[in-house]
Amino acid sequence: MSDQPGSRTPASSASELAPHERLILALDFPSSSQALAFLDDLQNRCACPPVWVKVGLELFLSEGPRLVDKLRSQDYNIFLDLKLHDIPNTVAAAIRALAPLEVNLLTIHASGGAAMLSAAAEAAESLSRPPCLLAVTVLTSMNAQQLASIGVQGNPQEQVLRLARQAWHAGVTGLIASPHEAAMLRGEFGSGLRLVTPGIRSSGAQGGDDQQRVATPRAALLAGASQLVIGRPVTRAADPAAAYDAFLAEIAMPSETTRSSK
Ligand code: C5P
Repeated sequence: MSDQPGSRTPASSASELAPHERLILALDFPSSSQALAFLDDLQNRCACPPVWVKVGLELFLSEGPRLVDKLRSQDYNIFLDLKLHDIPNTVAAAIRALAPLEVNLLTIHASGGAAMLSAAAEAAESLSRPPCLLAVTVLTSMNAQQLASIGVQGNPQEQVLRLARQAWHAGVTGLIASPHEAAMLRGEFGSGLRLVTPGIRSSGAQGGDDQQRVATPRAALLAGASQLVIGRPVTRAADPAAAYDAFLAEIAMPSETTRSSK
């Protein structure tokens, strides 16, 4: 992989990623002009600018596939975070419909059930450039109390493991979970798992947003995360380039990267 956008990480492999390839910047902006201007600024001012970006519901619903094409033409690796959740036939068809976008990572909800997960895995495999599917386990914004309110008893870890096992057995080898479950999932599934963790906050962060199960980038990687999703701590920082560089510096520290080369 090179230092700049221009090289695409194979969708199936997260092994031996360089520190800058472990950070995925969540482009949670209302328009492509804002997202692209933000990226331009980081490209100009960061010591080692982002090579991975996440397009979520807000941006995809407002700008559609054209924005994804544009980001690809700029050689970003793309995580399309649509969190697909529907009956098996519909999810499989949606994955096939997304084929022209050639995204690297794509999310589906693990709670869609075994049949949906298998259909999704099969649909992805049938594409000429299969995305790596990531099954969303329990949203990082949920705690035990919120889980109980939707009828799920037990702690988030138990539910994450239940859903993760179901996804894995259906052939989905990528997972989204919080850093709090990373060590458990790495221990359960080993190095073949691509584990992406949102809920990343700096050690000084005071909370105050919707994320509940959070950790620092260093803690998440040490626990076994393959890649980290960071949004607001960078996009809403007073100096986004400095914030991005600081996160990268934290994960580039040699002692932290040794154990996390998964
Ligand atoms: O701003 P923040 O760092 O909290 O952004 C986290 C990003 O990761 C958001 O775009 C959110 O949609 C996404 N995400 C998440 N929890 C999941 C899956 C995705 O926070 N389980």
